[in-house]
Parts: sequence; structure tokens; C-alpha cells
Amino acid sequence: MVEEATDFKITKVKESRAHQLDPNNIVFGTLFTDHMLVADCVNGVWQTPEILPYGDISYNPALASLHYGQSIFEGMKAFRNVDDEVVMFRPEENFKRFNISAERMCMATVPEDIFMGGLNELLKLDSAWVPSGEDNSLYLRPFMFASDVYLGVRPSHNYRFMIIMSPAGKYYSNPPKVKIETEFIRAATGGVGYAKCAGNYAASLYPAKLAQEQGYTQLLWTDAQTHTKFEESGTMNVFFVQDGKLLTPKTSTTILKGITRDSLIKIAREKGYEVSEQDVFVKDIVEGIENGSVTEVFGAGTAVVVSPFSGVGFEGNDYDLPAITEKSISSILKESLDGIRKGKEEDKFNWVYKVH
Ligand code: COI
Repeated sequence: MVEEATDFKITKVKESRAHQLDPNNIVFGTLFTDHMLVADCVNGVWQTPEILPYGDISYNPALASLHYGQSIFEGMKAFRNVDDEVVMFRPEENFKRFNISAERMCMATVPEDIFMGGLNELLKLDSAWVPSGEDNSLYLRPFMFASDVYLGVRPSHNYRFMIIMSPAGKYYSNPPKVKIETEFIRAATGGVGYAKCAGNYAASLYPAKLAQEQGYTQLLWTDAQTHTKFEESGTMNVFFVQDGKLLTPKTSTTILKGITRDSLIKIAREKGYEVSEQDVFVKDIVEGIENGSVTEVFGAGTAVVVSPFSGVGFEGNDYDLPAITEKSISSILKESLDGIRKGKEEDKFNWVYKVH
């Protein structure tokens, strides 16, 4: 059960900016709703969370997170369902993962009433910002950073937790073409790959930029030791369809445990597809694309939802994938996921949380 927030200090905007939202023209991560949540943890004690008008925050230049990177976040979404209600999708999974990331980064953990209650309160206030429309949603971004003013290297004593929200449409306008990365690595065993920490994304930018210069949209990471097994892609987990069966790398300390990934596995199994969480070898997939046994490769994540790839690049060669149709497994799974989230399909797994 989700605990309710008991104590929030709320300062509302004088005038909403929700009229700035054009559901037909949303650019990811550029427009923010009227309000944001701020909660400080001071020497291990959480202070009363505040909901304030969205705006700039200012900091001391010695802010610990700016120097040593104790900074984590979550990506989640709220939707407008067919009955015009605002719902969140599996928010408790994001809450749990947030605190797993916090523990790995040696940060304070956030109480459930602040995380869940804060999202609920913000969504009530800013419900006008939840767009309707096929691929539209309100992207929710809880995050936390070390807020000590101190240059010594040690875990911070103070943390700031915040939630901001931003209308989202389709993340990729065209199917991404991804490069199988065999030089740089994203994560190694024992590292922080499974944590949603800012540094994981910072470290991916340079290899991704090199790939973009070669004409690719994103990277498909391989394991740090041998570069022979797939891990995950830039902002998403990855699935392969081979001989009608779904394969996805099994999660480990080097792979983010995606909530969309988990949802697709459950939906697929419920629909009778075989799904295997296993080592997926680059060689097998490249050969499979060449001989036609691999018919789909797609990414799965909160921001991208289900994103079929147009092709993959490996060691200087490009391998095109067949065009996706409505009969493709990725299309069937995406439709079902959308259907559950928007109330068009029965919520058999009890994943939908109604804002109240
Ligand atoms: C998400 O899907 O929420 C992500 O974390 C991707 C984000 C970095 C754009």
C-alpha cells in the first residue's frame, strides 16, 4: 500500500502556465509544469517537503554533488486515461529503485510518504499539464543530490530531493539506428551500472557522440570484459525477437532493472510468447539478422516506451532490420502496455495508480 503524505507546505502559482502546452508539438524535456517539490534531508532528518512554483534554484559553488557526483534520478510517467483521470504507471517500482540507487551512491533514502505523496500532490495541482493524445504523457522526474557545502571526499550529510514534471511526446521521431559498442564500456561488474545515477549518463555521452558522428542514433552496450554480450542501450533496455521468441539480457549489477522491461516481459508471457532472460551474444544476433531469424530488435524504457530499431552497426558494417508492422511483437506489446496505462485494457497486473 502506498502511504499518504501528511504534511506538505504548498505555495501555489498565481497563474498557471498550462496554456503553453501544445499537445501536438511537445519537445521532450523542454517545458516544465507550474509546480515542483523540494524536500531537504538535514543530517539524516527529513524536513517538511515544500511544493513551490517551478523555478531556478541557486547553490554554493562548493556543493558536494557538483564535484563528486552523488546525484540520482528516476524517470516515470503519468497519463490521462480514457475516463479523463490522471494515473501513474507502477510508481512504487520507481520508488523502490530510487532508494536502491540511493544506497549504492551512499546517499540518504527517501521516505515513501515524501516520494509517493509528493507525486500525488504535484499531479493534483498540475493535472492540467497531463496531455491526452496517442504517444503523450507527463514525464515525472524525481531526483536527489548531495547538498553539503564541502570539498572533502566523503558521503554528504545533507541531501535535497526534488520532483519536476515535463510534458512528453514520442522520444524518437524515427526508429533509432544503433551501433554495437565494442571499445568503450558503460558499466563493469561491481560498479554502479544498476543505479540510476547521473554519472552513468555523463560517461555515455562521449562514445554516443562518436557514434552519432558515424550516423548512428544510439549505442548498444556490450559487456566490459569480452564485448561479446549485449547489456543495454543508451536510455533503454533491449529486446531481440529470434524465431518468434523474445530474448533480453538478464539483469545484473551492470544493467538497469527497467520497469518497462519488466512490464513487457510479463505482458509477453501472459500473451503466450516465450521470453528468455539470458546472455545474448552479439555474434548470434548479427548472424540472425543476416539469416533472417532475428526479425526485431527494440528498446524499452520509460522515456522511449517501446522503440524498434531500424538497424544495427557492428565493426563497420550496417545490418538493416525488417520494417515493423502492426503484427510485429514490439507493436503488439506496445499496444497492450499503452492500453493498460490508458485504461483501454484490463489492468490485470494491478499496475495503474490513480491520482486522488
Ligand atoms: C527514462 O526512460 O526515464 C530514462 O531514464 C531516460 C532518460 C535518461 C531520458
